Amino acid sequence: MATTRNISEYDRKSELKAFDDSKSGVKGLVDSGMTKIPLMFIHPHYNPDAKSESAVSQFRVPLIDLDGVNDNATLRAKIIDQVREACENWGFFQVVNHGIPAGVLEEMIDGIRGFHEQDTQMKKEFYTREFKDKVSFLSNFDLFEATAANWKDSLSWPMVPNPPDPTEFPAVCRDIVSEYSKQVKRLGYTLFELLSEGLGLNVNHLKDMECAEVIFHVGHYYPPCPEPELTLGASKHADSGFLTVLLQDQVGGLQVLHQNQWIDLVPMPGALVINVGVSLQVITNDRYKSIEHRVLANRVSSRVSVASAFGTTLFPSSKLYSPIKELLTQENPPKYKEATLQAHVANLRGKRV
Ligand code: OGA
Ligand code: NI
Repeated sequence: MATTRNISEYDRKSELKAFDDSKSGVKGLVDSGMTKIPLMFIHPHYNPDAKSESAVSQFRVPLIDLDGVNDNATLRAKIIDQVREACENWGFFQVVNHGIPAGVLEEMIDGIRGFHEQDTQMKKEFYTREFKDKVSFLSNFDLFEATAANWKDSLSWPMVPNPPDPTEFPAVCRDIVSEYSKQVKRLGYTLFELLSEGLGLNVNHLKDMECAEVIFHVGHYYPPCPEPELTLGASKHADSGFLTVLLQDQVGGLQVLHQNQWIDLVPMPGALVINVGVSLQVITNDRYKSIEHRVLANRVSSRVSVASAFGTTLFPSSKLYSPIKELLTQENPPKYKEATLQAHVANLRGKRV
């Protein structure tokens, strides 16, 4: 247990630096045959017993079928209603018949797995924290700021507005990464249209507010963990941007905090997970909810996921945002003042802790 290890007396800074300098990520530690996780990964306040709650829960993250959304007005109205309800009550939902072929999803998971499972030497060439301008391999975006590190590595690439040159992508996943990114962009546009209409706004309202002007993709790899009860694959957080499209493999481990319970987001072949980010919550004046989620580590299998963030405060902007005027009434006054998204996110995160 965490309590039997003295986690206060060690040189955390040097451990973090040595880990980062190795350029080998968490997978590198696992490959070295390590059986006890380094102290920097121990989450002191993580209570693994809380996860048993999910087993007895009656809740299920909504599943929405997008079939017919663009060619049948009756179906479209029904889908808009389902999306609105999911965003108001859950902040999370899964979609099927979203227009991205199952083969593309599978190939994308294989491509990201292929990158992370190739020879470490090849990966080291991509290791950099300059993720804003480059295709980058790194472990833990907030390694030097967070109180505990997560059991995962990531390959990231900014795609909108400034995509890297195709030759800059790792050979093992080059073609599928550009194909998948293109398809997710299209799906994102469709989702923003549905989300706009769900608010009773013009179909292009959210796109016109530049909600899809930054798209940042991250291919996560969660290696098997020898002590999963001491750490997490991803610690509890809410995404900072407007919307995230998440592709996950069939391993499981993603949980969302719904009515104070951790609910498993059970993987479903061919489905994509969609979730509202803090920025969308702010501009909708809390109508759409950004919900906290986390990923459990597990002893047995490695897990792959790809998160595509539409907007993210990892790319700060000076543009000011406040709740959409059309949504405000005397009974529903603005809950947020005009501010940058970074300020909104910091403020909301501060309140949640
Ligand atoms: C994220 C995230 C979940 C997952 O990237 O923000 O929550 O399953 N990922 O990898
Ligand atoms: Ni997230």
